[in-house]
Amino acid sequence: MSRALQRLVGGCKRWTQLSCRTQLQTLQQQRYLSAGAKDPTKGKGPISWKSLAVIGAIGAGGLGFMLYVKSEKDEALLKERKRQLGKAAIGGRWELIDADGQKRKSEDFLGKWLLIYFGFTHCPDICPDELEKMALVVNEIEQSPQTPQVQPIFITVDPERDSKEVVGKYVKEFSPKLLGLTGTVDQIRNVCKAFRVYFSAGPRDEDNDYIVDHTIIMYLVNPDGEFVDYYGQNRDKDQCVASILVNIAKWNSLNKKGWFS
Ligand code: NI
Repeated sequence: MSRALQRLVGGCKRWTQLSCRTQLQTLQQQRYLSAGAKDPTKGKGPISWKSLAVIGAIGAGGLGFMLYVKSEKDEALLKERKRQLGKAAIGGRWELIDADGQKRKSEDFLGKWLLIYFGFTHCPDICPDELEKMALVVNEIEQSPQTPQVQPIFITVDPERDSKEVVGKYVKEFSPKLLGLTGTVDQIRNVCKAFRVYFSAGPRDEDNDYIVDHTIIMYLVNPDGEFVDYYGQNRDKDQCVASILVNIAKWNSLNKKGWFS
């Protein structure tokens, strides 16, 4: 043992054990370094740079994971709020045919607000009244500042008589914006099932004419293709407009970037 080391060990009584050990290490380090040998204490201390880096990486990983969990949680919350607003089970995917015979799918309308009404062109009074109301509602919403357009859609519940030509001619009586859709019996059955629309053809008279009993409801669908609200026959034009504007405002604030991310 060198004199310097002896002096140090002797002096340990006056020092705390830790600082003494540090002194010893420093001394050993100096000796090894001066002898040109590899420093044995490097990386062997209680906290080396390497372990610090590892702890740092774990820490950063943990923080990243926590942030990930948080954003997942926010995402789930947002979805839940959307689900509650969307009242879940009503609506969904559909595929129909327009007046030109073109296929029209629900996905084609993503990004747009829709107001959908189910009826039939031979309806004596209720359907015409509701479609007139729908045309007025859509026009009034269009006049509100900074409000997106609402696409009005008429879907027949009587595909047997309501061919694409019949539907195309019929919707023009109400509004140039009104899109008329028909389809095969299966396609109509599917879309009606999706929107919980009831329809049932009554008995035929001597002219083979019949009335179709059906749900009288307008459905509001948001730009995500989700059902948001419905308006029965008892809701007048102003009530429909007010409710649609509220729903649009709600959707806008919910989808505002930076709120949840
Ligand atoms: Ni009707």
